[in-house]
Amino acid sequence: MPQKLKDFSSVSPSAKSLLKLKGNTNIPYAKQAAGLIDGGEIFNLNYDDKDFWFWMRAMHFESRYRSVDQLLKQTGNTNILELSSGYSFRGLDLCERDESIRYIDTDLPDVVFTKQGMIDALPVGEGVKGRFELLQLDVMDAAAFNDIVNMFGNGPLTIINEGLLMYLNQEEKVRLCSTILKTLKQRGGCWITADVYIKRPPEMADRVPYTSSERSFFEQHSIEDNKFESFESARSFFKSQGFEIVTEAEPDYQSLSVIPHLMKVLPEELRNRKEPPPKMQVTWMLKPR
Ligand SMILES: C[S@@+](CC[C@H](N)C(=O)[O-])C[C@H]1O[C@@H](n2cnc3c(N)ncnc32)[C@H](O)[C@@H]1O
Repeated sequence: MPQKLKDFSSVSPSAKSLLKLKGNTNIPYAKQAAGLIDGGEIFNLNYDDKDFWFWMRAMHFESRYRSVDQLLKQTGNTNILELSSGYSFRGLDLCERDESIRYIDTDLPDVVFTKQGMIDALPVGEGVKGRFELLQLDVMDAAAFNDIVNMFGNGPLTIINEGLLMYLNQEEKVRLCSTILKTLKQRGGCWITADVYIKRPPEMADRVPYTSSERSFFEQHSIEDNKFESFESARSFFKSQGFEIVTEAEPDYQSLSVIPHLMKVLPEELRNRKEPPPKMQVTWMLKPR
């Protein structure tokens, strides 16, 4: 008998928060789509006074988005499945620019409904040359996952995600890995995940002025517990699930659109620091071993 699926919909509001932050970057469509959101967002960030930590958050999400783009370019695959895409318009943007792309963009039903409304309101026009579809998919539903995979034509598949694994516990991560592994073994291709986050040492977590709404959201979803202990343990986890790490994205902080804003509010003690912020997240391209 099929297992009853856990309800992940309480995670979805975080996608709006991310879009509002990304609305301050040059990520395709982010500014226009963020302008379509009315009302607040679940993290209750201060958008009136964009301080250092505001721009640090925006930098992190811009950098993460670009890291997925970087690895995606390296694959050259034209069949792309994005999981838990939230209010991210990478697929639409790619399909606007490249007629060979077949992109299936997926998330939970409420997000897909709202996102479709946004897409209808965005100035996309006649410009979409590739084939773009926005569909509902709970990544824990292996049968539905398979149905969507079967919608792609021949050729290797690239599966991508950012901002998902930290909402899955160990057993759920194992199940998702198994679904992805089976798919890639059958079709060829790779998995690009930006969700290799490691736990923060308590003194580092204490330094970030999280809002009380952020803290309770993180606690409610066990975000810190769901992260990896270290990059080494993440490596062994994926290895134990049948994957090898093909490559790691290289962040290019200087190219990010938020940098000029961040520089204006950089505290004096950080002004002359040359080294990048400590590495707490990486983006990997994985393939079946
Ligand atoms: C933090 S947001 C990230 C959205 C987007 N990838 C981004 O980086 O802006 C987390 C997303 O995961 C989606 N999500 C959570 N659990 C899911 C599941 N089981 N299946 C599919 N999507 C899920 C939520 O609906 C939400 O859109």
